[in-house]
Amino acid sequence: MTIAVLGATGMVGSRVIAEAVARGHRVLALSRKPGEGDPNVTPLAVDVGDPEAVGEALAGATATGTTATGATMAGAAATGVTATGATAAGTTATGTPATGVTATGTTPPRPPDAVILSVRTFPADREFLVGATRTVLDAAARLGTRVLVVGGAGALRSPGDPDLPVADNRAYVPDEYRAVALAGTAQLRTCEAHADADWVYLSPPAELEPGERTGRYRRGTDTLLTASDDGRSWISAEDLAVAVVDEVENPGTERHITVVHRSST
Ligand SMILES: NC(=O)c1ccc[n+]([C@@H]2O[C@H](COP(=O)([O-])OP(=O)(O)OC[C@H]3O[C@@H](n4cnc5c(N)ncnc54)[C@H](OP(=O)(O)O)[C@@H]3O)[C@@H](O)[C@H]2O)c1
Repeated sequence: MTIAVLGATGMVGSRVIAEAVARGHRVLALSRKPGEGDPNVTPLAVDVGDPEAVGEALAGATATGTTATGATMAGAAATGVTATGATAAGTTATGTPATGVTATGTTPPRPPDAVILSVRTFPADREFLVGATRTVLDAAARLGTRVLVVGGAGALRSPGDPDLPVADNRAYVPDEYRAVALAGTAQLRTCEAHADADWVYLSPPAELEPGERTGRYRRGTDTLLTASDDGRSWISAEDLAVAVVDEVENPGTERHITVVHRSST
């Protein structure tokens, strides 16, 4: 598969890319400063706040070729995508490929098979997140590509109290994180309100940090999960990435899903 990851340099996005590449997928790595790396990863400098750039990057980019630097945007540069802001790393803003960048033009532009949206800002910017989400859903709907949104735990229901959103539950969301949690809820509502897009919203558990890749997790739907051994609602970013790529490879039927660490015992 070819998977586009928006938020490629982030805690989650970078691990999703590593997991996807390890499974043999090609990745379009989108962020404002995507960097370079694995030859199976095509970095594209795109600001998700720019609808035109997002649309053209997703519609016109393929990840079929590589160069010595790994910075290839086959087809897209040839079709002029870079001229409007979706600039492949190492290319100029005018669409002229710079040294080390291949614009073959021989491979027809092909949209990615899946799009993963995993962006955030500091401090939380609800309007930006809602706008960016709508932009990505719009672009993906035009292409017929499914979107997996890595969102927030705040959009879940509280365990044992389905009427209490986690965003309003101080047991999981202290005051200083409430704005982030509410932005995540607004992001879910944006997905729900979108008439055309095919999407799934993945809420992480309450705690999400870099850690170990165990490959073990338990999956649920719209209610926050806690681990069976220590009662904590947590998962490593590495195992969240496993769950993300599993869902992309084998899409489920639920629109809102969550996961939690699963112990080995
Ligand atoms: N427990 C929880 O619920 C929980 C905990 C942690 C994270 N999360 C969620 O997980 C998702 C990913 O979070 P994270 O921790 O991986 O975030 P992160 O490490 O802060 O990374 C944010 C990413 O967004 C990109 N980005 C920001 N503004 C952008 C823009 N205008 N255009 C394009 N890209 C932009 C950044 O790249 P550039 O700066 O290069 O553009 C970066 O790759 C978010 O939805 C976050 O809310 C949830």
